[in-house]
Amino acid sequence: MKKVNIKDVAKEAKVSVSTVSRVINNSAPVSGELKSRVIEAIKKLGYKPSHIARGLRSGKTKTIGFIIPDITNPFFPEIVRGVEDYLRKKDYTLILCNSDQDPKIESELVDILIDKHIDGLLFTGAGEKSEKLELAVKKGLKVVFLDRIIEGVNASYVVSDNYDGMKSLLEYLWKAGYRSFYFINGSKETFSARIRYKAFLDFVEKYRVKDYHHIFSSFSYEAGYNHTKEINRIPDVIIGGNDLIAYGVIDALEEMGLDVPDDVGVTGFDDILFSKHYKPSLTTVRQPMYEMGKKAAQMLIALIEKGVNKIKGYVLPTEVVIRNSTQ
Ligand code: RIB
Repeated sequence: MKKVNIKDVAKEAKVSVSTVSRVINNSAPVSGELKSRVIEAIKKLGYKPSHIARGLRSGKTKTIGFIIPDITNPFFPEIVRGVEDYLRKKDYTLILCNSDQDPKIESELVDILIDKHIDGLLFTGAGEKSEKLELAVKKGLKVVFLDRIIEGVNASYVVSDNYDGMKSLLEYLWKAGYRSFYFINGSKETFSARIRYKAFLDFVEKYRVKDYHHIFSSFSYEAGYNHTKEINRIPDVIIGGNDLIAYGVIDALEEMGLDVPDDVGVTGFDDILFSKHYKPSLTTVRQPMYEMGKKAAQMLIALIEKGVNKIKGYVLPTEVVIRNSTQ
């Protein structure tokens, strides 16, 4: 069936194509009589204006890009849901891309999304730098960082309070009597891992902790499993930089014949869906994932639609969740 186009509408309404275009894009005043004829013709013919054509004319495609670093980590889909629920309400479409923690893929994705004329970009970086992004922001790309900030790029951001979350967790462990700590963290390149590390160092200094160890690794189950197997002297508690690391730690300790929490405590960070169901259920720090996504989407749409260009940062509160993996 031939697709109805703008010329068919103009013919049916007995007006010019530019009049139809003005009515569709609300780009200039059109008399009531002409406007109702055009609207009648659109309804009668079932005309659907082309988003691409409209985008090229108005410079807006009502499309948002979102680059996340690891689609397999349940932390991110909860964030994406908060983003998409809000965008749908504002009639925007989301293009979700996974950089697979690879800065090279991430850089290619920025180019691809710009070529698709996105109106704005939500960005959770794989690393600590992104020249490509820095350049794009300088050229006017509207960006909001979500969960991880990239140093050197002047853009608004929404993160959770990684520092306070880790500090509160460690202070809970200290009060519960734990005295030796082994921290298996995410990669040094990620903003969230670095902030949690800082909180750990400040805790060690404040409480004059004698027996502690920290390693940067990756936010993955394998990192927790493999590093735990290599630990020579098991501490009172093993801190996972996120929940996936903690799951790997728990399974490795079980294979080593050690009981959690009776022989050693284990903690995570994020409180993803499975943590309350793990065996034992995981003590962790809850990040407000859905709210982080929603807030970042709100900020980006305000940037696009209202031209809000004041750089803003939101730090949403985290919460310690005590379960059975610690005593
Ligand atoms: O689980 C992935 C981790 O990386 C989360 O803790 C989140 O903060 C992200 O930065």
